[in-house]
Amino acid sequence: MANALSNLLSRFDPTLPLDCARTIPAAWYFDSDLAEMERLAVFAGWQAVARTDQLTKPGEFATADVAGEPFVVLRDEGNNLRAFHNVCRHRAAVVMPEPFGTVDRLRCRYHGWTYDLQGRLRGLPEFDGVCDFPRDNNGLIPLAVDVWGPTVWVHPGTPSFSLQEYLKPLPTQCNDISALKWSARKEYEVACNWKAYVDNYLDGGYHVNTVHPGLAGVLDYTEYRTELFDHGSVQISPIVSADDVPASAVRTGMVAQYWWIFPNFMVNIYQGVMDTNVVLPLGPDRCKVIFDFYFADQPPDYILQSIEVADRVQLEDMEICAEVQRGLRSRTYDTGRYSVKREAGVYQFHRMLHQSLISDASHKR
Ligand code: FES
Ligand SMILES: [Fe+2]
Repeated sequence: MANALSNLLSRFDPTLPLDCARTIPAAWYFDSDLAEMERLAVFAGWQAVARTDQLTKPGEFATADVAGEPFVVLRDEGNNLRAFHNVCRHRAAVVMPEPFGTVDRLRCRYHGWTYDLQGRLRGLPEFDGVCDFPRDNNGLIPLAVDVWGPTVWVHPGTPSFSLQEYLKPLPTQCNDISALKWSARKEYEVACNWKAYVDNYLDGGYHVNTVHPGLAGVLDYTEYRTELFDHGSVQISPIVSADDVPASAVRTGMVAQYWWIFPNFMVNIYQGVMDTNVVLPLGPDRCKVIFDFYFADQPPDYILQSIEVADRVQLEDMEICAEVQRGLRSRTYDTGRYSVKREAGVYQFHRMLHQSLISDASHKR
């Protein structure tokens, strides 16, 4: 590992108690070597890449690009869920460039190699006479794949935990989501490092009153709390009683749950309403956030209004995150401190990130 990167990693101390701890250094939010290391080390576990409603019938597929790694998930002829690295074994073209659809095989548009729905290499034009080229060993590289609720996950390595274990206790403790149906997707590009977006999500409601005045009237901010788990956290906020909620509110029920799973998956659950957010790095100082909205059987105007509320909140978050990214570049800012009352989730994220980076660094030695 290059010395500069090693020094950068050693500048975060994960052993301190929350009240003494300092955040990861500002350079972690814009250093390109660190971003490359994250790509390989942090985005190396379970990743939410598709939705089950995209993959119901044989031949249906969905693709994703997670930190520069292209994936394709599909249903094979037997309706089994399969996932592959979406990279041609010939010259590394992305085999399936479309976001979703239905196919009976995967044909690389560069030189026309074809793979069946089990990933086996079937057709390869004008490739006779190539020595030591067993076709059987040149199929698409498979990935572990599993499902939670309406989301499809892949794992590019050998999973240490099954997906259900990894997500614990999300599968058993979240509100019942079985009746919810996917309604819409929205994608946003944000002018910040992906971690600045995650930090903002995990700050325990610290910015709700200041950045989201509209939400502040709905959440009972004084009772907002964060619970930490092995691979994530949940922020729970009681919702103020129906009498006190503004008439326009589309967030009702007893509590709002904001789950986060390391490193980049969030799911926000209200009564009869849910949205998942996946945060994808697009480089050291840019990221994309994909929102998928799910509803019970509310009328269309309620659904529209609910998505509008989420959109407004997201625009507020994007603006503040971009401002943070600009500030992180200042020569005057290096590390910050955590609110003991609010920001245990942010510190946990930084510790998990650090752990993931240093274990990858030690493998490389
Ligand atoms: S890169 Fe796919 S066929 Fe050549
Ligand atoms: Fe926010």
